[in-house]
Amino acid sequence: MVLQAIKYKRGSLQILDQLKLPHAEVYDEIRSSEDAWHAIKEMRTRGAPAIAIVAALSLAVELQENSTKGRLSTTAEEVVAFIIEKLDYLVTSRPTAVNLADAARKLRIVVEDFANSESADGKVVKNVYVKAAEQMLIDDVLDNEAIGKHGAEWIKENTEEGKRGSVSILTHCNTGSLATAGYGTALGVIRTVHGKGWLKNAFCTETRPYNQGSRLTAFELVHDQIPATLVTDSMAAALLKLKRSSDRIAAIVTGADRVAANGDTANKIGTYSLAILARYHGVKFLVAAPRTTIDLETKSGEDIVIEERPGKEVTMVKGPRFDGVSLDLQSVETVSIAADGIGVWNPAFDVTPAELIDGIVTEVGVAEKDGDGKFDLARLFVANRSG
Ligand code: MRU
Repeated sequence: MVLQAIKYKRGSLQILDQLKLPHAEVYDEIRSSEDAWHAIKEMRTRGAPAIAIVAALSLAVELQENSTKGRLSTTAEEVVAFIIEKLDYLVTSRPTAVNLADAARKLRIVVEDFANSESADGKVVKNVYVKAAEQMLIDDVLDNEAIGKHGAEWIKENTEEGKRGSVSILTHCNTGSLATAGYGTALGVIRTVHGKGWLKNAFCTETRPYNQGSRLTAFELVHDQIPATLVTDSMAAALLKLKRSSDRIAAIVTGADRVAANGDTANKIGTYSLAILARYHGVKFLVAAPRTTIDLETKSGEDIVIEERPGKEVTMVKGPRFDGVSLDLQSVETVSIAADGIGVWNPAFDVTPAELIDGIVTEVGVAEKDGDGKFDLARLFVANRSG
């Protein structure tokens, strides 16, 4: 069975509550943009592409419901104004990942253009919005499959291990089906490498403090029967130093929440450290993300707003009670793992400078730096997806 973070059919949206994973698979109903805003803020749904799609579809469901109950205005202008207000609100849920703002901007343009160019009524504008939001769900999976293909080919051609057809890859955070509409970005690359029979092993970091790696990536790798090993974040240097050929890491592949025009990349906290370690150990470092994550309006990493999250995400852990033998899934408890009263800094993301990135894998190919060590990301936007 394929893992699905988002279940959608017209008029109905459900998200897999990622706070309950890996111990329980519970879907929450999302009926409105308010429901989605809270689910995103509380990280019941998370991952840059998934956040954007859940937000877009939540409004589609709300419009559908208003229409069915006869609450939808008859004028195109009023429906456009309603859509814009809700999109602006949804964008405030989390600041760093650009996919949400990008989706909101595109959806706004679609409805505004339509309302301006046709003698449309409110219902027609609603239908245009719903179809555009649904298309985002479809496109994200296709983009991820293409990212997987381009990334796998790049690793095959650009690493010794790839040329031999046996690669181990280290990844960070969660970038799989749970963070996207399906297939995944960095995890999509690993999935494709595995599908081609070249994967020796996937290593995933625990990804403190929220543990997306141990809770979500590990869950997904086990679920999809991809050979994999979990390490804590602090083990990465030792792992990269291993000389045993069976464990040698051919490449580190991570996702991204926002890629600036110069290639500087915001991603889950800890990504920057991995990129430094990769450079020191001569290991390739790839970022895998759809073009919706590239923000040409943001010149460099300096301009990226980094979300800071509550300190209790660092000082507390939550999980089912363990009696030394088995887990009691009925009794979820929160325990403190830090000295009471300690100050906490909890940035959710960091920025990896372009200098440390060997390639940015998108659905239209892998962007590499030119002879001057610069990425030309604008060029990616003249190409079409080549799945
Ligand atoms: O805070 P999260 O869990 O939403 O952050 C997710 C990540 O940092 C990922 O690396 C991600 O968004 C990359 S894209 C699939």
